[in-house]
Amino acid sequence: MMNILAFESSCDETSAAVVRREDDGRFRVLSDIIASQVETHRLYGGVVPEIASRAHIEAISKITYEALEAAGVALSDIGLVAVTANPGLIGALLVGVNFAKGLAAANGIPLVAVDHIKGHIAAAYLPAKESDGVPVPPFLALAVSGGHTAIYKVNTYTDYRLIGTTRDDAIGESFDKVGRLIGIPYPAGRGFDELATVGFDEAVGKGERVFSRYRKSAAYRDPEMTLPSPALADGTLDFSFSGLKTAAINLLHRYEQTGKELPRAAFAARYTYEAVEAVAKKIGMALDREEVTSLAVAGGVAANSHLRARLCEIAGVRKIPLFLPPLSLCGDNAAMIAAQGYYEYEAGHLADASLNASAADSVI
Ligand code: KG4
Ligand code: ZN
Repeated sequence: MMNILAFESSCDETSAAVVRREDDGRFRVLSDIIASQVETHRLYGGVVPEIASRAHIEAISKITYEALEAAGVALSDIGLVAVTANPGLIGALLVGVNFAKGLAAANGIPLVAVDHIKGHIAAAYLPAKESDGVPVPPFLALAVSGGHTAIYKVNTYTDYRLIGTTRDDAIGESFDKVGRLIGIPYPAGRGFDELATVGFDEAVGKGERVFSRYRKSAAYRDPEMTLPSPALADGTLDFSFSGLKTAAINLLHRYEQTGKELPRAAFAARYTYEAVEAVAKKIGMALDREEVTSLAVAGGVAANSHLRARLCEIAGVRKIPLFLPPLSLCGDNAAMIAAQGYYEYEAGHLADASLNASAADSVI
């Protein structure tokens, strides 16, 4: 048995968690404390890096004590410290990295650095219920967040291969930017999701296979709502979300210029359809190409109800196990960093006092 103390500070959430790796190979989340800065950044319509770094400094010590206390574990019972070291906002990452380095060195605890995206995917190793299964490599992983839209083949717990990615904006970023234009406060993803539900309900009602019914609906044929697919049609598994975003901005301008009131819900549904269907298409192609036994989805946008439903359909048709994290583990949190940290430790990837943060991806 090993208790892992983990830290996450790559963007606008400071998090500390204690996760236990049981001798039977299961992980148990003993605490997962998240201090969110969302309210602070909302004033500016997005994350302000300098404010994020300062807020991390103010929060990290306090939430570490909270995480240990909530877990009922003393620092002397911690066998491993794990910290997100990349990618992310460099100033924000440095807070977690330096805090973790100091804590590990002062207490003689081994330290490991964790890639944030591998961390997101490792949320799949933290089952919500005892009876739930977990993915075992090789599996396909979809990482959809504010900064990523990427498909990986997870060969082993620490060896990932990037097989598809966005060439520009990330899916979450595009929901945030376009959502802001239609008056949804930052971060717009959840509000966009709810508004799209209203749009789909109006177009085709509730029930099964919403997307396939929507595709055939009158709402989909509305010429004023036409938007391009962000799935690149070049045979790769890549995306371009900036094309979709620009087309959406032009659409909104046309409504403004003609003085017509924008049907917001119908627009949100259409935008969501294109974004989600593109991901669904590339996941289908990836499953055709790669020898994998299951599919895991990770990141803030994994909370999107329409994406979840669509991926469930695909997994159902292909009879492939699908691992969707509970909503509490979709966004940034340190429990997922602990899980990946354990595997980095097991692979012998120990960090030392020379560890530095990096804004860059490590899997490219
Ligand atoms: O993983 P995350 O917490 O932070 C990053 O690493 O980026 O992801 C945040 C992103 C934001 O863009 C947010 O708008 C989006 O996840 N998000 C959603 C939903 N909930 C959060 N996007 C779509 N639908 C949602 N329900
Ligand atoms: Zn994240």
